[in-house]
Amino acid sequence: MSAPASASPADSDLVRAARGLPVSRTPVWFMRQAGRSLPEYRELRAGTKMLDACQDPDLITEITLQPVRRHGVDAAIFFSDIVLPLVVAGVDIEIKPGIGPVIADPVRSVADVDALPDLDPAQLGFLETAVRRLVGELGATPLIGFAGAPFTLATYLIEGGPSKEHARTKAFMYAEPEAWSRLLQKLSVSSSTFLRTQVDAGASAVQLFDSWAGVLSAVDYAERVLPHSRAVFDGLGGRDVPRIHFGVGTGELLPLIGDAGADVVGVDWRLPLDEAARRVGPGRSLQGNLDPAVLLADRETVDREVRRVVEQGKAARGHVFNLGHGVLPDTDPGVLTHVTELVHELTSA
Ligand code: CP3
Repeated sequence: MSAPASASPADSDLVRAARGLPVSRTPVWFMRQAGRSLPEYRELRAGTKMLDACQDPDLITEITLQPVRRHGVDAAIFFSDIVLPLVVAGVDIEIKPGIGPVIADPVRSVADVDALPDLDPAQLGFLETAVRRLVGELGATPLIGFAGAPFTLATYLIEGGPSKEHARTKAFMYAEPEAWSRLLQKLSVSSSTFLRTQVDAGASAVQLFDSWAGVLSAVDYAERVLPHSRAVFDGLGGRDVPRIHFGVGTGELLPLIGDAGADVVGVDWRLPLDEAARRVGPGRSLQGNLDPAVLLADRETVDREVRRVVEQGKAARGHVFNLGHGVLPDTDPGVLTHVTELVHELTSA
């Protein structure tokens, strides 16, 4: 691991950039940095199902540390999955390799919503153990805890698995507004419990993933989704950790994504960061936004695009360098190490 720039995670460049405070250099981490781009991950995961790995503190700890050791990134992201709180509560979900979460009995009626089991915080002992162990191992490097936002979780529950249009989800939202609101409320409680447990065990920042919110109009997002995402953040009470809020294709929603309670708005690759900064307004930092596909291109292109993102990120109150979405499985991990080093070099005082 490279020498940390600060003595404590609470004073790390990640936390400082998230709060808009001066940094020693722009902090870098990558969504999906732990995972299939790393041979050491594939080796460790061999023979263990994804959702079993997510409940094993030894595996969680080792997989979370792998990209920090290898790339020298400025933060670890807790190895888990957005559907895990539902799985722990007893919902029958499997993560199919190359597909994603698949739900045995999708939520299609009001009765299905009411039958969803609640998450009992007492079931999260493994989570607390893993976070405590990780925080001990990470030293001054901050651990980012995360959860899925209610809307994105609802898309999986209603569609039964991954989908492009999320048409069933929207149809349910329009046809059954009360059940929709109850569903999102239940999901906000379980995501909030999941986040709170990670913060209480020592996570230094949190990210709420609303990956698929970009399929909504601003009006529907504001009225039918945002209050539930805000409830997840509100569930953190006075816990003093920066809050990152991310979705894909959210150019038209950016001011609202900030309003839900974020210190940092995550931006995908579609919008330059200087334009995103204008839309989000002065009180929040930005995270992003290199197109993950750029990492599959030649080195010259990678360097040019990294420089562009770093330059445009200067328009923000604070900038956390990241991709615009997760690392693609085919990415050469050496390129991730190179990008980390380049951002550090370009931004060191
Ligand atoms: O490095 C990290 O970011 C750590 C952990 C992490 C995973 N999932 C591990 C994982 C995080 C933060 C997530 C969040 C997640 N899970 C999101 C939000 C982020 C995003 O990408 O938008 C979503 C939508 C999910 C649901 C999900 N789980 C999908 C779409 C997939 C991919 C399916 C595939 O195989 O392509 C998963 C599985 C998953 N989650 C894997 C990993 C490492 C791959 C499973 C494996 O390695 O066998």
